Amino acid sequence: MAKKNIIFWEQLLQDAPLAYLKWFEAERQFLTEHVKKNSSVLEVGCGNGRSLRELLPITTSLTGIDNDVVAVKHAKENFKHYPSVKIIFGEGDDLPFDNESFDVVTCMSTFANFGDKKYQILKEMERVLKRNGHIIISVFSEKALKERMKVYRKLAKEDIKEIRKNGTVIFQDGTSSEQFSKNQLLSIFDKAALRANIVQDAGIAYICKLSKKSVWKGWIIEESLEDKNALLKLKILKSVIERNTEAGQVRVWHLDTVEVDDADIDKVAQQLEKQIKLGYYTHFTDFNTLLIIFKDKSFRIRLIEQPKEAETGATKFKANPEDLHIWKHALDYGINNGKVDQRYIVAVN
Ligand SMILES: C[S@@+](CC[C@H](N)C(=O)[O-])C[C@H]1O[C@@H](n2cnc3c(N)ncnc32)[C@H](O)[C@@H]1O
Repeated sequence: MAKKNIIFWEQLLQDAPLAYLKWFEAERQFLTEHVKKNSSVLEVGCGNGRSLRELLPITTSLTGIDNDVVAVKHAKENFKHYPSVKIIFGEGDDLPFDNESFDVVTCMSTFANFGDKKYQILKEMERVLKRNGHIIISVFSEKALKERMKVYRKLAKEDIKEIRKNGTVIFQDGTSSEQFSKNQLLSIFDKAALRANIVQDAGIAYICKLSKKSVWKGWIIEESLEDKNALLKLKILKSVIERNTEAGQVRVWHLDTVEVDDADIDKVAQQLEKQIKLGYYTHFTDFNTLLIIFKDKSFRIRLIEQPKEAETGATKFKANPEDLHIWKHALDYGINNGKVDQRYIVAVN
């Protein structure tokens, strides 16, 4: 019997050790805290729907996918009174959904079973996740082996082929179950182009909240910099020359669109604070946050994506109401200390 098999999992759930029960309770609390009302959620490896069920008070826009026919049958039975819950037979490494389809993608108690497929499955989870969405993964920690062995010895003693020092257990049928340290998880997520926002210790497991690794786009006027060479360190996507006439005078601006990796944005912001001349500012966005950089100071304002414009299809943003006070400080700083002409400051509220 494959140890990722739903029958094994259902037997375990019937009489789970205390450490497992504490882990499941931590999962429930985490989902309740981190999934917003009415979000669309996909669970990869949904089993019989144990974790999806925890989400019903928050949202019924639920989809579960599993590559075990019995799991799919049991999950369908469990959600037969919820027409908006979709249960699909399929593989985690080839998800049958469009790009950016879900607000949240979860993978509860399943990541340990993915073996060599884990990177392809993470890639797929990232692909179907909306730009501002989150992935929630709950997976055995380096402290789990003792408790896992209690379960395996009770339910699958004959099936254990090998127990490795790092906590990987290989079963006779070739399936495996792994466990990970926090650093191992961080390195796996990093390679999969995901940013780990939270890695919470839940005893025998870690519960992780991940988001897409963002890239920042910025717009810099060359004439606004003390030393134009500062631009050489940045990836320039586009350069245009703009001319405008003010009070009879023609002014020429060289405007560069640049790209900065998330890991470098703080350093770049610090350098630009020193480089930018009084009277100017520059701004960057990763489409989650607007970063406005003036002389000696920068401000970050979280954004909320608005419905696409019907005519142009363009995505619009406005400031998160919780950050409007920062926006007011930025305006005040820009006009008074930064000496920027009010006419040139973008509006986000
Ligand atoms: C340990 S159970 C967890 C079920 C459920 N997430 C829960 O928390 O109760 C793991 C489930 O993942 C499914 N699974 C394992 N590998 C998979 C893959 N590559 N694609 C889809 N489902 C997979 C198994 O069939 C099984 O139902």
